[in-house]
Amino acid sequence: MALLLAIGVNLRSVALSQMGIHLLTAEESKRSERPDLSLSQNDDREKIRDANPIEEVIRGEGIDLQQRGRVFKGLCPFHADKNPSMDVDPDRGTFRCWACNEGGDVFSFVQKRLGLDFPGALEFLAERAGIEIQRRKVDPAVKEQRNLDLEMLDWAAGWFTRQLESPAGKLARDYLKKRGFHSGMIRKFRIGFAPPGFSSLTDALKASSQPDSAMKRAFDLGLLKEGREGTWYDTFRDRIIFPIIRPGRGSTRECGEVVAFGGRHLGSVAEVSQGPARPAPPKYINSPETRVYSKSKILYGYHQGLDQIRRARSLILSEGYTDVIMAHQMGFGTSVAVLGTALTEQGAQLIARKVDRVDLLFDGDSAGKKAAARCCELFLGTELQVRVVILESGIDPCDLLISEGGKEAFEGVLASGISSLEFLIASILQEHGFQAGESSPQIASKARRDLSKRVLQPLAGLGQIVLDEGVRQVALQTGWTEPSIHLDYQGDLQRRPRGRQNRHSGGQQSGFVAPKSISDSHRRDGVTTISADAESVEESFQDMERVGQPFQEGPDQEFDVALEQGSAADEFQPEVIPEEEYVMLKMVIRDSGYFRPLFRVFPPERWRAPVHRGLALMVIENRGVPEVGALTDVDQKSLLLDIQARIAGEDRWQDVDERNLMVPQYMAEILVAELERKRTHLIQNSGSREVVQSINDHIQLLTSSKFLFDNSSQADEIINRFELEPKWSSSNQEKRRVGDYSP
Ligand code: UTP
Ligand code: MN
Repeated sequence: MALLLAIGVNLRSVALSQMGIHLLTAEESKRSERPDLSLSQNDDREKIRDANPIEEVIRGEGIDLQQRGRVFKGLCPFHADKNPSMDVDPDRGTFRCWACNEGGDVFSFVQKRLGLDFPGALEFLAERAGIEIQRRKVDPAVKEQRNLDLEMLDWAAGWFTRQLESPAGKLARDYLKKRGFHSGMIRKFRIGFAPPGFSSLTDALKASSQPDSAMKRAFDLGLLKEGREGTWYDTFRDRIIFPIIRPGRGSTRECGEVVAFGGRHLGSVAEVSQGPARPAPPKYINSPETRVYSKSKILYGYHQGLDQIRRARSLILSEGYTDVIMAHQMGFGTSVAVLGTALTEQGAQLIARKVDRVDLLFDGDSAGKKAAARCCELFLGTELQVRVVILESGIDPCDLLISEGGKEAFEGVLASGISSLEFLIASILQEHGFQAGESSPQIASKARRDLSKRVLQPLAGLGQIVLDEGVRQVALQTGWTEPSIHLDYQGDLQRRPRGRQNRHSGGQQSGFVAPKSISDSHRRDGVTTISADAESVEESFQDMERVGQPFQEGPDQEFDVALEQGSAADEFQPEVIPEEEYVMLKMVIRDSGYFRPLFRVFPPERWRAPVHRGLALMVIENRGVPEVGALTDVDQKSLLLDIQARIAGEDRWQDVDERNLMVPQYMAEILVAELERKRTHLIQNSGSREVVQSINDHIQLLTSSKFLFDNSSQADEIINRFELEPKWSSSNQEKRRVGDYSP
């Protein structure tokens, strides 16, 4: 049982991490060259976005849009489109073409359509809406000040590196060598050394042409401290110096701008060790925030990794200077670290504008876990796909990388990440000391509140599909039913001021609905029921019956969003999102025996991502997974390789039994979801009660801990019996079907 439960969770995590919270991204500012946008510019941007509803802008370009439920459909202007294949989502302010995969928000639409860069699009839309863009006027005096600051910091960085190269730097050099840092990295990161003693840097500044103003500036920038009677002394003493460099502008674009320093104590010389035990100096000291340094806006390693980060549109976020440098040395050039203790909301927003994906890599101690949870929370309201890896306690990324086989271990660890959603929910539950099936109602209700507030509300801002995914994940980890979590969440909203709850979206179309988790608490005498609240088949029937009818009375009525949806999505047409396509491909590549039933339920012909579709069709044509060499399409090739690598990565962490059960279990999950969907459909359309009863029996069977497919034809039988293949619209009828390829 424990094994099966573990697999269930695991499977979900695989699926979830792929689904993540990764939806359409606003690409525009990510491409913008400015290292950071000031808040006022950001405000402008949102103001301009609000004033330019995407459907109006697109219509303004002479494109006819027809409303279909919640979205508009029109001919895609980015390829020769015959059928309207572009969707425009007015709620989210996005467009997406299913055929050519072009998509984005109103800014990217204008950019692509009119061939403008982002500032150009901003200007165009501002003008269209009659908004005046506030240009920040830079005071020449401030600019001059800033230039002098940067000059001083750059000079200091050079001075520190010269100290490292000097005889006085021998111990520091030895230390860096012992830690395994190559000289190339020492240069790239401009690592330096601050000698012991209180006046090395101070003396160097005294020798400059204008010592007074130089020392005053060095003090402002945190390089010197003020002693008694107007004297100065060095801030960094006996420390390895890590300059904090941000991408430069104009002439400093290439080499970046040094804006601050971090210094790791070397302990090579005892500091003025008179008197009773002085406290040991701190391991690191860092520059304070200054005129040119705001730590929440800068990531350590970002400048050095900029090209790779831009290309990959992803980054690896960890904690330490040394972790970042070693990661770069070992070829993980997208590795960066937060500066100071924690990521801030502003930092998270900035990251979200630059990349699509973040891998969090943190220490396994409690501080590391807390920091990771905090990061997840900050990223939750963004559209970033975030995955979390927690290392074993006591091991940090730098140690791992430098150990033997470290590079491969690091890759394996990265591949094992779980979705931030899953991680965050688990850590909130842990905070409350909640354990599924064992906690008191008081603890449970506190945990429910907290999850609503800290997880579901931010997710709701990203739309219904994302919210549903969150609800599913909460259900999975707690054993609560999805409708009750939805209701709970709506109830919480009711207690809050109105305004955020109007995100009705058109029905629960997102692929499959997760089956209920199977936990010991639901199991009595070897019988597994489908959910905690629906203990008998009859009860589960009644539970579903409510779906079709609005509640009779009471305040719940108007918040009954989740339950009303079934009726809107009456077409009974499953829709697959690319993340699910990817998971399906992964399962098929793991065990190609199941490709037929899987593809019968979700025919690849209708998949969205062309490369997913292409590879799946190759599987069908080949009646199994083709060899990489047999593929002619480069994208398909690299997708197959990527999935194979991922599987290998996952398998490091799974034993053979788990692996073998994974695909049949996944098949069962999909069938349960499809059966649930079918059942809802039948109930709403007054279908046969016997069939519903039989569906319930099958769900019960499939979710029972004893059940396992022996082979894929059992899945086929269920599909046949309940007609789980989607009905095809007439235009698709001539297209080939998976069944045609069956042996
Ligand atoms: P770590 O203690 O993990 O240091 O702190 P590290 O960078 O991995 O260094 P090594 O490998 O032990 O030599 C992680 C980060 O936390 C900040 C620094 O930014 C450091 O890189 N930190 C840590 C401080 O700012 N002050 C401290 O006293 C300790
Ligand atoms: Mn460390």
